[in-house]
Amino acid sequence: MGLFVTFEGIEGCGKTTQILLAADYLAKRGIPCLRTEEPGGTTLGRKLREMLLNRGPFIFYPETELLLFTAARAQHVREVILPALEEGKVVLCDRFADATLVYQGYARGLDIEAIRFLNAFVTNSLKPDLTILFDLPVEVGLNRARERIARLNLASREDRFEEEDLAFHKKIREGYLLLAHQEKDRFRVIDAAGSIANLQDTVRFHLDSALRE
Ligand code: TYD
Repeated sequence: MGLFVTFEGIEGCGKTTQILLAADYLAKRGIPCLRTEEPGGTTLGRKLREMLLNRGPFIFYPETELLLFTAARAQHVREVILPALEEGKVVLCDRFADATLVYQGYARGLDIEAIRFLNAFVTNSLKPDLTILFDLPVEVGLNRARERIARLNLASREDRFEEEDLAFHKKIREGYLLLAHQEKDRFRVIDAAGSIANLQDTVRFHLDSALRE
């Protein structure tokens, strides 16, 4: 079996930049690696992502949102993640089940135990070996995310969650920190306020340690 690593954090925490750099690093070391993301990762998942992140006039109830994120995950695990792990690859995944616990659970207020049950069902109880949490004050992350959105053209904007208020994003940060506290063996919390290069050094350190285990 390969190694399953997830990258998590609030909006604008820099995890997507770091996952790209980490994939390059592993490739240069000749370590077979697959980089993927949620929601997305499969053709069906990308359709669901488009629906979830560009809602237009449609109102999604939190329960609907939960089921769409987890539906995308069910497909992703079976079609992409498990086969890659069975081939012995390192799978680097931008968000996974923890994002649902935090966004739909701690922030939207859906029942945490119901989400845990649903996550276990759709993932066939697959858990990451390592989760790197990029922690950052919400104000800093949101400023970065808004600058990024301003640079994008209208057609490629995915801004649904950046539009939520500060209190929502604070719940996300606190939710992630709580999960990290509950599962200290799996989580590594990184202070995401550092430079891209320094953060990447820390990411590589954690990846190398997990690969040695
Ligand atoms: P992502 O592409 O990681 O956005 P960003 O790179 O801007 O952080 O995630 C898309 C959005 O979907 C993000 O706002 C978090 C949200 N999300 C959930 O609410 N629940 C989930 O289960 C997942 C995977 C993502």
